[in-house]
Amino acid sequence: MDLGLAGKNVLVMGGASNIGRAISLTFAGEKANVVVGDWDDQQAEKTASDITKLGVKGLAVKTDVTSWDSVQGTVKKAIDELGSLDILVNNAGWAIDRLFTEKPRSEWEQEVAINYWGVINGIRAVLDHMIERKTGSIVSIGSDAGRMGEYREAVYAGCKGGVIALTKAVARENGRFGIRLNVVCPGLTPGKLDDCGEKSLWRGEEADVFTPEAQDRAKKGYPLRKLGTPQDIANSVVFIASERAGHVTGQTLSVSGGYTMM
Ligand SMILES: NC(=O)c1ccc[n+]([C@@H]2O[C@H](COP(=O)([O-])OP(=O)(O)OC[C@H]3O[C@@H](n4cnc5c(N)ncnc54)[C@H](O)[C@@H]3O)[C@@H](O)[C@H]2O)c1
Repeated sequence: MDLGLAGKNVLVMGGASNIGRAISLTFAGEKANVVVGDWDDQQAEKTASDITKLGVKGLAVKTDVTSWDSVQGTVKKAIDELGSLDILVNNAGWAIDRLFTEKPRSEWEQEVAINYWGVINGIRAVLDHMIERKTGSIVSIGSDAGRMGEYREAVYAGCKGGVIALTKAVARENGRFGIRLNVVCPGLTPGKLDDCGEKSLWRGEEADVFTPEAQDRAKKGYPLRKLGTPQDIANSVVFIASERAGHVTGQTLSVSGGYTMM
């Protein structure tokens, strides 16, 4: 099936490392132009350069999704450089796994700022442009934690649940303008160091939590008995973003080997 993405213009927030990088490169493989908005500018440049090798426009724009000014600036730059924006993917995310009672407030605040405010900022920043054009597709990356709650991920799970409800509400309000919003929820999807910049979770504390032994234990809890890859997530994101999913809005798709079935 041709996804009809050739020539479309895409902005991937947090598009530099791991899942975001796979999403950026998969859109580029479908011949869409991709702007990578990420606060890890070095890794974003690397991903943008790999995008251009696929014969489309690739551009890295340093962005902090927690900052409204930064997100607005990136959206403006993307529209100036590409002429328009058809698709936004809100992929930037961050968490540290610890029991609720053991986490300092600074970590909760960082989780809320990136996982919830980051998505609010991204959606709000592209909406006027999409409403004016009477078309647009927004995919936000949730988590199965946001559907079922997850041990040691209380505030992060709350943010991802918020992303799911926010998406449904904005989809209800803006469907009449031809704008679709959906959420894709990964299960555990470890990153390969080659695909992860310095700011990736997989170079920080999360890598120590999800050791190979912990990953093996997690697999056993998944009906398909395997973990997802960044490419698994990217395939679903690119499909649901495309017009081939043109009658799908306000939905939440788990790509997690059956970990949740809701
Ligand atoms: N990998 C998993 O197991 C898993 C599971 C469920 C959900 N998710 C979600 O998938 C998404 C991607 O996760 P990942 O594993 O690829 O993480 P990652 O840390 O490897 O990549 C996240 C990317 O977002 C960027 N980023 C983080 N904060 C940012 C900010 N404030 N402004 C701009 N960019 C920022 C990082 O630089 C990085 O490029 C996240 O939303 C995460 O919550 C991941």
